Amino acid sequence: MRVYLETFGCQMNELDSELVRSNLHSLGYSFVDRPEEASVILFNTCSVREQAEQKAWSRIGIIGQRKKAGEKLILGVLGCMAERDGLDMLRRHPQVDILCGPGELDRLPHLLANMRSATDERPARTERVALAGNSSRRTATLEAAQDGLEALDLSRSFDPAHSLAGTASAYVRITRGCNKFCTYCVVPHTRGAEVHRPPDHIVDECKRLADQGVIEVTLLGQTVNHYRYTHGRALTVDGRELPQVGPGLAAFRPQDARVRAASGERTTTFADLLFRLHEEVPALRRIRFVTSYPRDFSDEALQVMAQCDRVCPYLHAPAQSGSDRILKLMNRGYTVSEYLEFVDRAFQIVPDLCLAGDFIVGFPTETDEDFEATCDLVRRVPFKNNFIFKYSPRPGTVAYDRIPDDVPDEVKRWRNNRLLALQSERSALVHAEWLGRTLPVFFQGTRSARRAPAAAAAGLVGATIEGRDPAPSFPAGPDSVGSWQAIGRTAGDLIVAVSMNSSADARALVGSIHTATMVGAEALLLRGRLDEQNSSVIGL
Ligand code: SAH
Ligand code: SF4
Ligand code: F3S
Repeated sequence: MRVYLETFGCQMNELDSELVRSNLHSLGYSFVDRPEEASVILFNTCSVREQAEQKAWSRIGIIGQRKKAGEKLILGVLGCMAERDGLDMLRRHPQVDILCGPGELDRLPHLLANMRSATDERPARTERVALAGNSSRRTATLEAAQDGLEALDLSRSFDPAHSLAGTASAYVRITRGCNKFCTYCVVPHTRGAEVHRPPDHIVDECKRLADQGVIEVTLLGQTVNHYRYTHGRALTVDGRELPQVGPGLAAFRPQDARVRAASGERTTTFADLLFRLHEEVPALRRIRFVTSYPRDFSDEALQVMAQCDRVCPYLHAPAQSGSDRILKLMNRGYTVSEYLEFVDRAFQIVPDLCLAGDFIVGFPTETDEDFEATCDLVRRVPFKNNFIFKYSPRPGTVAYDRIPDDVPDEVKRWRNNRLLALQSERSALVHAEWLGRTLPVFFQGTRSARRAPAAAAAGLVGATIEGRDPAPSFPAGPDSVGSWQAIGRTAGDLIVAVSMNSSADARALVGSIHTATMVGAEALLLRGRLDEQNSSVIGL
């Protein structure tokens, strides 16, 4: 059976697709690059904004036409959109055969097998849907304890050729779901309760990836710094540790931490996890993590970043707004001055820190003054880049139900463009500060320098996601002689383009770390020159 799998959305989805691919591959399915060659079409979807859903709808529409024309295809919708739309999708879009939420992907092989065995006389009416529904939150503890998903992560066989994260770089989940319930956000509804993986599982997975040639891992979680695993609580009968539901915000209050420590409870915090990975998996040259929640980022975690040279000095910590009133309506749980306190502390503790984030413009009731406050925050904080989104009302969220989407679209668009322009100026300044520095660059792609640099660079960043940190995926340039560039990232995640004589020379760098001197700075990237003296693979 030939499968075409297309992924929309964030890095979580990219990792999920990689796990689905590896799981189905082990069961004998093969994968093709074009939907026309496949008999099973899988879309791993995203619901974070309406636009993300539109993309998937148009693909689903095309498959519908092919099915109408008589082609025998199995169409599976996976991920957050499946979870959010639920059975409604099957009712309104009969071409969809399978629905599988992000928390149920371990059940996908079963759903597929069931669909395959269906015939015209005996259609698969049941068992083509695996959704958590509301049950995941109600029975979260039980769910966490029986987590079949954990098996999916653990049985992962990393295939660099099919890794969505690129050569020698891999994503590793540390936390699933989210408990924060920002009022605009679907993620807690689609991904369920926050569940933390046992640290031993994470360390083992990283060791296995390193054995397979991975030199960079990006730890994934919606709020990675809230990672906290209490030992001895969730165990199997034979004493193995299981994933466990997150402790909630109270765990981060200093007085609460003292009570816990006094009770002799043994926990692995985010700082402990970073340190363990650094110490126990020396083959990893770079350890990164996304996304950080601007609250509760401990000094310990920042100190680990400062002291462990293979833990990258990079934070993606979205502010979302620069107005206290809007932050409150968003239920973000911090004020602008608390955000600034965190950022100042981070820059003080971590030398050479690079900071990125996200903003939402046009949140309901956002006034010109609120928006100006956001601009002020962008002026005040040296963000290397920000993803800027127009507010998109999502059914099922608190903001959708309680606060009318009253900012006109043209105002949203204007604010979006204005903030992008402002961020672009700031990014150019932040990049310029690195001029003259010689830095290790992890090369992950190539491109032809003959393309208009701005457009190509925009493609580079735009080739990513529905809202978060750019994945290291780069457009491949034409394979011709000419001026070629190798594209990589610094430890702080600044993009670096280095001109090479040929595509072969550029490609030869991919997958390894070399030092380069920064000779040019733009809003989106640095231009580097390879350090001839020391262009061999080095650590950070
Ligand atoms: N867990 C991360 C973000 C996950 S969603 C965090 O809390 O920072 C990625 C980004 O999408 C968010 O940071 C936010 O900027 C944006 N986003 C989420 N819901 C949105 C919505 N309804 N409309 C517009 N942007 C949204
Ligand atoms: Fe969770 Fe982030 Fe969504 Fe807030 S924005 S609910 S922290 S995923
Ligand atoms: Fe889901 Fe990621 Fe989109 S968590 S809604 S796929 S941003």
